[in-house]
Amino acid sequence: MVFLQIAFLLLSTVTTLWAVPIRQQNAYNLPNGLPISVDIVHDLVKRRLPQHTHSSFIFELAGPQIVPALHDTYTISNAHDEKILIRGSSPIAITSGLNHYLKYYCKVDSYWSSNRFAEIPITLPRVNGTVSGGSNVQWRYYLNVVTFSYSTAWWNFERWEQEIDWMALNGINMPLAFVGQEYVAQKVFKSFGLNDIDISTFLGGPAFLAWQRLGNIQGSWPVPCPQFWIDAQWVLQRRIIHRLRSFGMTPVLPAFAGFVPEAITKAFPNANLTHAAHWANFPPQFTSVTAIYPLDPEFLIIQRRYLHVQRLLYGGWTSHIYNVDLYNELKPASFDPEYLKSSTHGVWKSLKAGDSKAIWMMQGWLFHASYWTNERIAALLAGAPDEDVIVLDLYSEEKPVWNRTDSYYGKPFIWNMLHDFGGNQGLYAKLQVIAKDPLVALNSSNSMVGMGITMEGLNTNEIAYALMLEMPWRHRPVNTTEWVQAFIGRRYGTERVNNKLAAAWELLRRTVYENKGGTNGGVVKSIYELRPALQGLVNRTGKHSTALTYDARDLIDAWHLFLAAAASPTSTLRTLDSFRYDFVDLTRQVLTNLFVVLYGHLILASRSGLPDHARKWGDLVVDLLASMDEVLATDKHFLLGTWIADARKWANGDPELEKFLEYQARNQITLWGPDGEISDYASKQWSGLVSTYYQPRWRIFVNHLVTEWNHTAYLEEVTQFEYRWQTQTWGEREGEVWEVVGDTWEVVQKIGEKWEPVLKEVYDIK
Ligand SMILES: *[C@@H]1O[C@H](CO)[C@@H](O)[C@H](O)[C@H]1NC(C)=O
Ligand SMILES: *[C@@H]1O[C@H](CO)[C@@H](O)[C@H](O)[C@H]1NC(C)=O
Ligand SMILES: *[C@@H]1O[C@H](CO)[C@@H](O)[C@H](O)[C@H]1NC(C)=O
Ligand SMILES: *[C@@H]1O[C@H](CO)[C@@H](O)[C@H](O)[C@H]1NC(C)=O
Ligand SMILES: *[C@@H]1O[C@H](CO)[C@@H](O)[C@H](O)[C@H]1NC(C)=O
Ligand SMILES: *[C@@H]1O[C@H](CO)[C@@H](O)[C@H](O)[C@H]1NC(C)=O
Ligand SMILES: *[C@@H]1O[C@H](CO)[C@@H](O)[C@H](O)[C@H]1NC(C)=O
Repeated sequence: MVFLQIAFLLLSTVTTLWAVPIRQQNAYNLPNGLPISVDIVHDLVKRRLPQHTHSSFIFELAGPQIVPALHDTYTISNAHDEKILIRGSSPIAITSGLNHYLKYYCKVDSYWSSNRFAEIPITLPRVNGTVSGGSNVQWRYYLNVVTFSYSTAWWNFERWEQEIDWMALNGINMPLAFVGQEYVAQKVFKSFGLNDIDISTFLGGPAFLAWQRLGNIQGSWPVPCPQFWIDAQWVLQRRIIHRLRSFGMTPVLPAFAGFVPEAITKAFPNANLTHAAHWANFPPQFTSVTAIYPLDPEFLIIQRRYLHVQRLLYGGWTSHIYNVDLYNELKPASFDPEYLKSSTHGVWKSLKAGDSKAIWMMQGWLFHASYWTNERIAALLAGAPDEDVIVLDLYSEEKPVWNRTDSYYGKPFIWNMLHDFGGNQGLYAKLQVIAKDPLVALNSSNSMVGMGITMEGLNTNEIAYALMLEMPWRHRPVNTTEWVQAFIGRRYGTERVNNKLAAAWELLRRTVYENKGGTNGGVVKSIYELRPALQGLVNRTGKHSTALTYDARDLIDAWHLFLAAAASPTSTLRTLDSFRYDFVDLTRQVLTNLFVVLYGHLILASRSGLPDHARKWGDLVVDLLASMDEVLATDKHFLLGTWIADARKWANGDPELEKFLEYQARNQITLWGPDGEISDYASKQWSGLVSTYYQPRWRIFVNHLVTEWNHTAYLEEVTQFEYRWQTQTWGEREGEVWEVVGDTWEVVQKIGEKWEPVLKEVYDIK
C-alpha cells in the first residue's frame, strides 16, 4: 500500500486541475502476460477505418507502462505529413484517445447497430495544440454474467472481434470473459472421476449457460448440451482471450462457486452436500443445484484444481481476477452472521490457495433482495480482506447499494449502469442521472475503483450507453442538453441534422430519456410481448415495469418531427443506417404505446358487454401487430431470423444439431424454460416473433374474449400454441424469411396512413 500512496502523490499533481478530486483508490497491478505494443491499435484501425491504415495515425506508448495504469492518460496532437499523433499510457489509453479524436474532431461514433467511420474525411482534421485526456478511475468494466446468454450466445469470432474493437475504443479495460467455461468445468470434474453422463446432467444448454453458471439451474432441455458446442465455444474463447490480452485488458475469469454435479460423491463420498435454493419454479431435476459449502475441505480442493486446470488450459496464464457469485437470487442456508462470514472466508481462502494473487469479483445483484439487510451484507463482506475483493454495484443508476452500505464497508466497488433486463427494448434512460451520479459517487466514496455497464441484454437505447461510457473520462457533470445535440451530430453527421431532427431529440431527451417518475424498473416492457390476459398487464411498476415514464403524446410529437426531418425524398437521412434504425425504433415504440390504449378499450368493451365494440377493438389490436411486424422487418437489427440463423450456423449443417439449437434460441426468448418457468422474460420486439408468436397469441385471446370467455379453454389453447411454436423450424412456413423486407420509409408512410387517425382519436390529438 505504501507504493500505491506514492503513486497517488505523483498523480495528484496532475489531478489538482480536475473538478472531481481523485481520492486514493485501491489499485491493482496485475501482469497482463503478453507483450504490449501499438500494433494492436494499428490492426484495429485497419479493420475499422480501412481508408486510414498505417499512414494516417502515429501511435506511441508513453510514460511508465503499468498495465492497467491507475489512471489511463492520452494526448492527441498534430504530426508531420498531416498525420495525427496519439500517445497513451496503455493500448486502451491510446484507443480511448483515438475514440475521443474520432468523436470530437471527425464527428463520428460507433454503436452496436452502426457506425459512421466510412464518412471520416480522408484528410484528417487537425487538432488545436495538444489535447489531453485521462480516466478518473482505474477500471472500466463491461458485461453481465447473463449477457453471455441473452445477447452473445450465438456470436462467432468475427462478431466478438467487432465488439472488442468497440470496447477498446470506449476505454473498457475489464471485460467479463465467460465464454467456453464449460470446457474447463468438464475437465475439472473428469479429473475427479466423473463421467460424461454425470457431467452432462449438470451443464446447461447453449442458450441458458448463464444460469447454470450462477447455480440457479442445472442440465439442459430437452436434451443434454452436445459436446461439439462445449469444444467449439472453448476454441472461440481462446481467440477472445488472446485479443483482450493483446489490448492490455484484464479479463475477468470464472472460478469455482461451489455448484457441482450430484455424482461428485464418487470423488467425495463423505462430502457434506447441500442444495442451492429452488429457483423460479423449475422442476427439481433442473434446479436446487447440488452445492458444497465453502468452508468444507472439498470446496478448497475443487477450487484449487479448477484454477490450476484453467491456468493450464490457457497455457500458464491467468488474469488473477475471478468472478464468484455464491448467492445470486439464492437464499443462503442461514443468515447467521458467522455463517455468512465463514462462507465468504471459505471462498477467499480457496481462491488464494489456487492463486496467491487472486482477486475476487462479486456481483452485488443479490443485495437487492430485501432480506439482505445492512448487517447481513456487512457480515458477508467481512469474510475477505478489502484488497482482495471487488464488488460490482450492479444497478447504480436506479438502486445504488454502495451509498447505503458505507461503500460496501470499505470494499472496492465499481459503479455500473444496468439499465436493461433480458434484452427488452423499451425506449428508456435516465440521462441526467448518468451524467452526474458516477462522478458524485467517485467524489464521495473512498473505495470506488471503476465505472461500467452491466446490461442484461445489448442492442437497446444506444444513447444511454454512449453517455455512460464517457463518464470515466469526464471530470465534471455533463450538460445533457448540449451533449445530446453533439451526440446526434456524430450519429447522423452534423450536415444532416436539421432543426426538426434537433427538436425531436431535445424532446426525447426531456421526456423518454429522462425518467422523472422513478419506477426503478429499468427499461419499460411492452405488454404485447406478455401472454394476453384480462388484467395485470398495464401499469406494472418495479422490475419489468410496463408503466411509461413519459407522456405517450411526447413520443408521437418526436416521431412526427422525425418524419418531417426526412420528408424530402432526396433527404440523405433516409438511406443512413443509424437514422433508419432510430426511426424503426421510434415507430416501434409509438405502436407499442398505442397497443396499450387499444387493449384498454378492448377490455372495457368486453367488460361492458358490448361484443361488437370488443370485436372492433380486438381486430385493431391484432392488426396493429401486423403493422408492427412490417415496420420491424425493414431493418436487419429487428429480425427473429437473424437470432435463429446465428444459432443454427454453429451446427455446421448437421440437421439434428440445427434443430436443437433452434429450439434453444426460440425457448429462451419465449417460454424460457421447458414449461414456461419465466415465460416472456427475455421477449423481443422482432419481426417474425411478432408475426408468428405474439400476434397469433393475441388472436387466440381476442377470439375467446368476443365469444364466450372460458378461462380454462383459453389457457389450454394458448399453452398448446406456445409449446408448438418451440419446435417449429424457421423458414418452413410462408413469409418466414431471413432478410430485410421492405423500405423503412415507404412502410412507415403506409402504416402511418392507417394508424394516424387512430392515434388522433385515442390520444385526443387535434
Ligand atoms: C480549433 O481552432 C480553430 C481556430 O482557432 C477553431 O475554429 C476551432 O473551433 C478549434 N477547435 C476546437 C475543437 O477547439
Ligand atoms: C454441513 O454444511 C452445513 C452448511 O451448509 C453446515 O451448517 C453443517 O454444519 C455442515 N455439517 C458438517 C458435518 O460439517
Ligand atoms: C442512495 O442514492 C439513491 C440515488 O441517488 C437515493 O435514492 C438513495 O436515497 C440513497 N440512499 C441513501 C441511504 O442515501
Ligand atoms: C466534489 O466534492 C467537492 C467538495 O466536497 C465539491 O465542491 C464538488 O462540487 C464535488 N463535485 C461533484 C461532481 O460532485
Ligand atoms: C445546459 O446547456 C444549455 C444550452 O447551452 C443551457 O441552456 C443550460 O442552462 C445548461 N444547463 C446547465 C444545468 O448548465
Ligand atoms: C395507467 O396509468 C395511466 C397514467 O397514470 C392512467 O392514465 C391509466 O388509466 C392507467 N391504466 C390502467 C389500466 O390502470
Ligand atoms: C370451459 O372449457 C373447458 C375446457 O375446454 C371445458 O371442460 C369446460 O366445460 C368449459 N366450461 C364451460 C362453462 O363451458
